[in-house]
Amino acid sequence: MPGFEVIGAEEQAEIDDVFRRGGVLFRHGFDGIRNGCYKVRDFEAAFAQYMGVPHALAVTSGTAALRVALAALNLQPGDEVITQAFTFVATAEAIIESRLVPVCCEVDDTLNMDPVDLERRITPRTRAVIAVHMLGTPARLREIKAVCERHNVVLIEDAAWGCGGSLDGVRLGTWGRMGTFSFDFAKTMTTGEGGMIVFHERADYERAAAWHDHGHENNPAVPRWEDTRSGSGFNYRMTELQGAVGLAQLRKLDDVVRRQRTNRDAMWRAIADLPGVTPRAVPAESQETADALVFEVPAADVAREVRTRLLAAGSATKILPEAVTWHFAGTWTHMPELVATHGDLAAAFPTTASRLSRCVSLPVIVKMSEDLPARIRAAIAPVLGGK
Ligand SMILES: Cc1ncc(COP(=O)(O)O)c(C=O)c1O
Repeated sequence: MPGFEVIGAEEQAEIDDVFRRGGVLFRHGFDGIRNGCYKVRDFEAAFAQYMGVPHALAVTSGTAALRVALAALNLQPGDEVITQAFTFVATAEAIIESRLVPVCCEVDDTLNMDPVDLERRITPRTRAVIAVHMLGTPARLREIKAVCERHNVVLIEDAAWGCGGSLDGVRLGTWGRMGTFSFDFAKTMTTGEGGMIVFHERADYERAAAWHDHGHENNPAVPRWEDTRSGSGFNYRMTELQGAVGLAQLRKLDDVVRRQRTNRDAMWRAIADLPGVTPRAVPAESQETADALVFEVPAADVAREVRTRLLAAGSATKILPEAVTWHFAGTWTHMPELVATHGDLAAAFPTTASRLSRCVSLPVIVKMSEDLPARIRAAIAPVLGGK
């Protein structure tokens, strides 16, 4: 969550640098007046290096990152893409916007994609899978990747919440063929709005880069107005001001994640012994981003009462249980494409519905007051029959 908490002099200095060196806000061209200042380009290079991949492409949002990643695959209308029933609407929106068929699968005890249910839902029309690391905990990527390989299906990671996390020492977002990130204002690093895609294959990067820029191939042999093109696209270009902020935020990312983990652990220690509280399952060798502390309580009404008590005590929950309508496919009756796939959405994902209804998610911040864990305990212990 807290990229916004650490915005300060470093981001300001990067922005000032843009204006000091000519004030060019467009990522391409104007070479004669920008004094070598290319913030988006530098941000992409720094992000690719951080992730340990050869290519990164900055875009305008995490939603755009998903849309552009799908465009790079050259899929056909009617091809199926599977994601998980617990994610933000953006994941399904990107599939629908790409004229592909959205399919959702159940989540397991990690609250991410259940590899067993994923495999059940693969059909001859399935082309891609989008696994999501909800609230900063890695999905079971080893198993999901194995399913994708078995069925010759592309794996994309929606790492909107996974920026700075890893599994088996491999960064989240780099397990699949492509990984997408969000830098909106609620993420571990932020550019206000913004996103990134990382790639292993140069051909994917080139298709994505052209598609996010109206088809421009940025052919160095010709000026931009005579640029070559192989297909049409759209405009999801990041601005230099976002790139500037991103450079400063990226340098702070590891520290933000480290402090989030420390604070999340302190919150958990304060409530771990309360009756009926079970932590969310985490795959072995996970390094979570610790965006939130997620735990299960014995029943849905208990989860709602926990939220009520926290609010009364001046604290909050995050997504679970209150914002589930934006994050659970079982409620997305406003998406006819999803209804066409699954029919009665309310009955389509019983395991996910049941798990989510019993979960509570507490936001983790960097600048946590020292007494917060004790205040959280005091607020929720009576609901759980503890002291
Ligand atoms: C899982 C997931 N994917 C995609 C997005 C979209 O990111 P953005 O808000 O940058 O468009 C979000 C945003 O919260 C998200 O949670």
